[in-house]
Amino acid sequence: MSEKPGFGLSLPAKAMLMARLAAKGKSALAPELGRPGNRKETSTWSELPLFRELETLRNTADRLGVVSPYFRVHDGNATGHTAIAGRPLINYASYDYLGLNGDPRIIAAATEAMGHYGTSASASRLVSGERQVHLELERGIADYYGVEDAVALVSGHATNVTVIGQIMAAGDLILHDELIHNSAMQGALLSGARRYAFRHNDPDSLETYLKTHRDQHKRALIAIEGHYSMDGDIPDLPRFIELARRYRCWLMVDEAHGLGVLGRNSGGIADHFGIAHDEVDIWMGTLSKTLVSCGGYIAGKKALVEYLKFSAPGFVYSVGMQPATAASALAALNIVRAEPERSARLRANSTRFLEGVKAARLNPGTSIGAAIVPVITGSSVKAAKLAEAMFLRGVNVQPIIYPGVPERSARLRFFLSAAHTEADIDTTLAILTEESGKL
Ligand SMILES: Cc1ncc(COP(=O)(O)O)c(C=O)c1O
Repeated sequence: MSEKPGFGLSLPAKAMLMARLAAKGKSALAPELGRPGNRKETSTWSELPLFRELETLRNTADRLGVVSPYFRVHDGNATGHTAIAGRPLINYASYDYLGLNGDPRIIAAATEAMGHYGTSASASRLVSGERQVHLELERGIADYYGVEDAVALVSGHATNVTVIGQIMAAGDLILHDELIHNSAMQGALLSGARRYAFRHNDPDSLETYLKTHRDQHKRALIAIEGHYSMDGDIPDLPRFIELARRYRCWLMVDEAHGLGVLGRNSGGIADHFGIAHDEVDIWMGTLSKTLVSCGGYIAGKKALVEYLKFSAPGFVYSVGMQPATAASALAALNIVRAEPERSARLRANSTRFLEGVKAARLNPGTSIGAAIVPVITGSSVKAAKLAEAMFLRGVNVQPIIYPGVPERSARLRFFLSAAHTEADIDTTLAILTEESGKL
């Protein structure tokens, strides 16, 4: 599931509307725009039905006295700590799991690449040519997974859209976890394949559908995440691999929140289960989280990567990643591999936090405590008010509210980081316990 802001200012609400429209397979921005000569059909933006729904949400929030927690402006580097409007905060709204954002080695690599290559890769790599740093990043990713090859694209979201949209087609079958990220869902819709959402983390639900429907389709793809960003839980990877083999499906694992986070050697979900990486057909991930950069990647067989480099529209018809962005991701990846103590620290912090939440009799849902820990309030208003109270006391954490999640699952979502100290966590737990008791 994607992050879907709820009420508040018009822009986050637009994101929410887009997510809802996306689920219906529509574009939030296109549907009612007039074509030349068709002006009578044109609506103004504020007449769009979901825009009006948004206004109702905003008015409700105003009436309840809830301040929008969205689009706050950070003063500088937001990692385990941040500052907003000059006020220091312990930060749980950053994807910087290993505390790498601002690392001088990464900044030096990006600066050097910028000095060497300038600020642009100018056009699609297919036609305008390669930069060595792209190839080095892709080799680094392939080596991390111990697979044949990898390709990096300018956006994580666009990677899922263009890759799933390209490799699957009408007559095929895509089976995905019901909580899969919006980007994979968009790719599935784009592909024209039949789509089925099986129950979250439930291989039995997947198998029931495979038994009756697999044979009616040509190719089949199972798409799951290695570590789910809303709940902080993980799939039973060995079971999914077994089903993929038995029912002749490709298995795609989105490691956006698993890379560098899971596994004794920071090797992701396969490392967590002690499984060889080549048991999974398609490794997908983002450079924007643990690797504190920007972009997405696919890793797997050489033939898959070559196929995508010559066919995926988001690669063929889009610019190559800015060289400095590739260089920073590569420098971060090298640190992830060389300094496993970072993920050990993240694990220790996450365990400490999860245990504290349980001890306070708050509800962390199904989180395994590896980096993402929700605190489920069961009410959007409670979640928004609790987040606001925490913010006023120096803790930045995002509320996730209806319709981003069902009302009964409204929550605060804590992203832990290796950059947090034990004191940060204990302070946060004390404030959380006190403030949730007041609600
Ligand atoms: C599971 C998952 N996949 C893909 C993406 C998209 O990645 P990016 O934000 O780097 O475009 C995200 C981002 O939140 C994600 O959580």
